[in-house]
Amino acid sequence: MPIPFILDTDTAQDDCVAMLVGLLDPEADLVAITMVAGNVGFELQVRNAWMTLNVADRLGEVPVHLGCRRPMVRDWVSAENVHGDGSGGLSIDFAGLESEDEHGVDALLRLTAERPGELTIVCIGPLTNIAMAVVKDPRFVPNTKALYIMGGSNNARGNITAAAEYNFYVDPEAARIVFEAGFEITVVPWAPLTLQDAVFSRERIAEIRAVGTPLARYFGVVCAQTLAFDESVGIPGSTHPDSLTASLLLHPELILEASPYNVAIEAGSELTRGYAAMSWGVHGLPSNARIVERADADAFYAYLKALMSIETTPPRAFTPAL
Ligand code: BDR
Ligand code: CA
Repeated sequence: MPIPFILDTDTAQDDCVAMLVGLLDPEADLVAITMVAGNVGFELQVRNAWMTLNVADRLGEVPVHLGCRRPMVRDWVSAENVHGDGSGGLSIDFAGLESEDEHGVDALLRLTAERPGELTIVCIGPLTNIAMAVVKDPRFVPNTKALYIMGGSNNARGNITAAAEYNFYVDPEAARIVFEAGFEITVVPWAPLTLQDAVFSRERIAEIRAVGTPLARYFGVVCAQTLAFDESVGIPGSTHPDSLTASLLLHPELILEASPYNVAIEAGSELTRGYAAMSWGVHGLPSNARIVERADADAFYAYLKALMSIETTPPRAFTPAL
């Protein structure tokens, strides 16, 4: 039985790849996409989602709900210096592509209430929509099967500051609410996990691109800007934490090590804003999350390469041509 889940995303670069995981893997039942303010301008994120649905030839099949346009109490912080427009300058004719009228937070509440205990939410952006749903309706937590969250660093470096990873930094109040709410949570951290097991070298990106399908060429274009940024900060390839998060839900055999932790989010200090204190079980704190510590890097790469090898016929032409 395919695994039913909602993807809560700030769609740019690897969020697009995570969406493709949900759209292409026969093990996935992608019920809805909810959009949250994060990586790039909100309208750009929506365009990136349409283009990703288009390249997978799934336009009109998965509802797109627009969620919160800014963090709960703070100003939005862009990652456009990392991602550009989030899709390598691609465009399509967007005429007639309409998101749902229902707000993303209301969609999260309704969908989980319609199928209590069945739906997992893969959270690959700031946690604003999830926290707002927690605040709005106490039934949201028990109705949700689990959260798979990309965020934080496990006693390691941040990426937007020394202390913090981007998703938790942007909306630390939301992240704190979510980790205190009582969900069953799996965390895919930035460091060391992503840097250790989800970095694709320039050669690997070229290898996928050379597969030549529309999906493989889209993957190559979408990853190019982030690849350049990552190399400029000393990471030897493009980073894929969001697609790893979706993949680990669908293929738990890719998880080689995971342990229970207590995760607490810093929201009071400016210096360490969004820092996630990940306590590994020796400090007498109750566990509120499972943290993935090691994933099968080669199998993850092979899995994504196989997905990008699927032939699709995108109904709308890309500009510039893929
Ligand atoms: C996270 O922030 C974004 O740049 C990526 O999409 C990922 O979700 C990594 O810190
Ligand atoms: Ca993201």
